[in-house]
Amino acid sequence: MDYLTLGNSDIQVSRLCLGTWNMGGTEGWGPEDDARSIDLVRRVQDTGCNFFDSAHGYGRGHAEQVLGRALAEGERRARAIVATKIVHCEPERVEPSLDAALKNLQSDYVDLYVVHWPRPSMSLEKFLEKMVEMKEKGKARQIGVSNFNLEQMRVAAQYGVVSLQPPYNILWRIIEPEVLQFCRDNDIAITPYSSLAQGLLTGRFSRTDEELTGIRTSNLLFKEPVFSKAREAAALVDEIADEHGCTSSQVALAWLLKTDGVTSPIVGISKWSHWQDNLASLDVPLSDEQYARLSEAGMEVWGMFPHDATMWGWKPK
Ligand SMILES: NC(=O)c1ccc[n+]([C@@H]2O[C@H](COP(=O)([O-])OP(=O)(O)OC[C@H]3O[C@@H](n4cnc5c(N)ncnc54)[C@H](OP(=O)(O)O)[C@@H]3O)[C@@H](O)[C@H]2O)c1
Repeated sequence: MDYLTLGNSDIQVSRLCLGTWNMGGTEGWGPEDDARSIDLVRRVQDTGCNFFDSAHGYGRGHAEQVLGRALAEGERRARAIVATKIVHCEPERVEPSLDAALKNLQSDYVDLYVVHWPRPSMSLEKFLEKMVEMKEKGKARQIGVSNFNLEQMRVAAQYGVVSLQPPYNILWRIIEPEVLQFCRDNDIAITPYSSLAQGLLTGRFSRTDEELTGIRTSNLLFKEPVFSKAREAAALVDEIADEHGCTSSQVALAWLLKTDGVTSPIVGISKWSHWQDNLASLDVPLSDEQYARLSEAGMEVWGMFPHDATMWGWKPK
């Protein structure tokens, strides 16, 4: 495993982060077996991954509880960098929400407390002031944001956020070029989510015709006419994977890992074999020419969306 510093902080994170959305057991991923999730978290940590992403929203704290149980064994918590998220709300709700998250996580601190989604109808400044207070109280080592646009990033940077968690992959390019450049210029780590476009960049919908179920049925990348174009780009990912003799998922993650400014792509998995597969993305020597071809094909898909699109056609007001 390789490690990088998380933006302008003193935290070292692995270059792949394990997402825990599905471990919440709701929101379109279907029921999960907690014992299996706990085993998965531990096995993933044993490969050198130290970075774990959760949120209150994942099963109303259930994913946090599962992660907390997994890391309660021995020295696991001390070795982990735990991120969890809170949706922008009234400032007075921040500390009780963080306390609830800490209880779920069986810990007295989170390494990274992240604003899950901004709410344009509420004051960002007052909310971020409260997030900073959590840092000062030692309940959060650092604070970060997610799903922020450039204007919101400019505000967030004034409060010392160290990371941005955006939707970002070969097909979904919302942070290019301004937000990406802003983060590079301000030493704010980019930790992309839906790095594999919820499975679309793994070959499962281009090499085979997997049935669309659950969360993917509401993901705009899986809806026509975008889906056909996205499958063409995914076929290019497959082609380049064949050139390297590796898997499509490895190429999709290698593209992110090669993007200047990206610290750690977050990947959601429920199968151990998928983690083993994704780990090998760190060793795929994507050429500049292959990187450029993938970027171009993905941009044709992203060009079909309005510049402020969200993956599920939804955002908090
Ligand atoms: N901040 C936010 O608003 C936000 C939004 C979405 C997600 N997130 C975070 O990001 C994480 C990941 O995002 P995501 O779950 O939306 O998307 P993702 O990681 O792009 O996709 C997850 C899907 O990819 C499949 N997969 C992973 N590796 C694979 C491989 N090697 N071969 C084949 N299939 C593979 C998984 O299958 P299996 O389950 O079968 O292993 C799962 O169905 C979440 O868990 C969460 O922590 C944050």
